[in-house]
Amino acid sequence: MIKVSPSILSADFVNLERDIRALTPAGADYVHIDVMDGNFVPNISIGIPVVAAIRGITDLTLDVHLMIDRPVRYVERFCKAGADILTIHIEADTEENTIEALKTIRACGVKAAISVKPKTPAEAVLPYLELCDLILVMTVEPGFGGQSFMADMMPKVTKIRSYIDERNPACELEVDGGVNAQTAKVCTDAGANVLVAGSAFFKAADKAAFVKTIKG
Ligand code: DX5
Ligand code: ZN
Repeated sequence: MIKVSPSILSADFVNLERDIRALTPAGADYVHIDVMDGNFVPNISIGIPVVAAIRGITDLTLDVHLMIDRPVRYVERFCKAGADILTIHIEADTEENTIEALKTIRACGVKAAISVKPKTPAEAVLPYLELCDLILVMTVEPGFGGQSFMADMMPKVTKIRSYIDERNPACELEVDGGVNAQTAKVCTDAGANVLVAGSAFFKAADKAAFVKTIKG
């Protein structure tokens, strides 16, 4: 089954509660929360208190995407704030610290996940495969919503799908960046089962119809 995770980076922050409460009737499965520190990516977005506030108003799975340097320093606090899935970037620290962070996330009872930027090859996920509940392949350079989908990431998605099927079949495979009614099918055909959609979701006049369309 294909799942949809709307990215609230494109929500109306003044009306965040309204926009989050609209996700369940629209058929969304997760809420994608983009955390940016101004170092790992050239943008600053949402932090720990906002994750905790969102936790207070929804039972949807909180899919928290950390785009921050050395995430091992913060993972426990994001888990306590209410993340259900916590994703860290493998480019953000050493292999040793990334493994420590993933183990800490799981020890908190939260699903652990890694993400790869466009220039990072599929093979880079191999040291972490058994420690992950989800792998996120970026289909844009992380940092901003509304960018164009990179179709050339699809061979990487397919390769990671084959690693998952072989070594950790319960692991989910998510794509993030430029997903819309046209590009969603390319992603699911390549092997993704979770679709993040920010601008396309929040721009859609009929959000339930949009979710239905991209689920295929
Ligand atoms: C980008 C973020 C994405 C972003 C996606 O760094 O990780 O989650 O919100 O936005 P769209 O769907 O507009 O590309
Ligand atoms: Zn994201």
